[in-house]
Amino acid sequence: MGFLDDASDFIDRGVSAAKGAVSNVACEQLGFMRDFRRLCREGAQAGYHERNGGNASYLLTDEDLRAARPFFYDYASSWVPLAAPVPAMAEAFVLLTASGCYLKNVADQPAENCAIVQIDPAGAAWRAVWGLRAGGRPTSEIDAHIACHGVRRAADGGARVLYHAHPASVAALTALVEPDSRAVTNLLWRCLTESVVAFPGGVACLPWMVPGSAALAEATAGALASFDACLWQVHGVFAAGDSCDGAFGLVQAIDKAAAVALQVRAVAGDGAPVFRLADGDLRAIAAAYDLPLNEAFL
Ligand code: 13P
Ligand code: ZN
Repeated sequence: MGFLDDASDFIDRGVSAAKGAVSNVACEQLGFMRDFRRLCREGAQAGYHERNGGNASYLLTDEDLRAARPFFYDYASSWVPLAAPVPAMAEAFVLLTASGCYLKNVADQPAENCAIVQIDPAGAAWRAVWGLRAGGRPTSEIDAHIACHGVRRAADGGARVLYHAHPASVAALTALVEPDSRAVTNLLWRCLTESVVAFPGGVACLPWMVPGSAALAEATAGALASFDACLWQVHGVFAAGDSCDGAFGLVQAIDKAAAVALQVRAVAGDGAPVFRLADGDLRAIAAAYDLPLNEAFL
């Protein structure tokens, strides 16, 4: 990717401290940016991001911030209030995809299709300090992203990555079953052996809500306090991970299981499948791999 990679060479040689020289180009080559760009590309290639569907965010570490700060704009945007304050996110810096952007374009044009936002000391507002070079604003799901980062940060030091995708399988399956977290988890666990390995805690499932709404953000943050992923009925999935690979892998595992569940249902019709994993099978996998199985969902 010629030009950007050339800029990376400047960084590697320590030349890029001169922000003006490679203004907002070298930032794209930092490690966390590369991972984020790859996540967006892989999600688009997997078919999870029709048009502007889906979005993602990454909570910067102190080290990331030290590396990225030299590229921040001299003048940040104005403060924009969040739907609800998230005190646990006070002073945090978060990389987000831009609202309306096509995730397939993030890898090649991150400065146009992403933003790094700073959260204010009260955790009540954000302002853009990098990116959005073509204008616009961060994803319409920013309230869900910031609220979920806050919940995870307060609980366990944070899930670095939150990833919202639109797998067709998840939209289809949640049109056929009630949005009951235990029932949906059982469906996914019992039709595919590796499901319980990928999400031993189960998944949450929320009833349909308006995309980008404060209600959806609040409910998703509540779900992500206990689960690594939350299905949005007839919409998609919102997943947390310690890394881009972790969040993407979780979505892939849910997508695969949902697709298998649909195929079995399509073929079996009203007839029951001849085999489903039983409680004992799920417990045996959990014991073999030392997994924190959510026993309450069996
Ligand atoms: P954005 O383009 O605002 O990120 O919205 C996409 C989406 O999937 C909303 O749920
Ligand atoms: Zn969506």
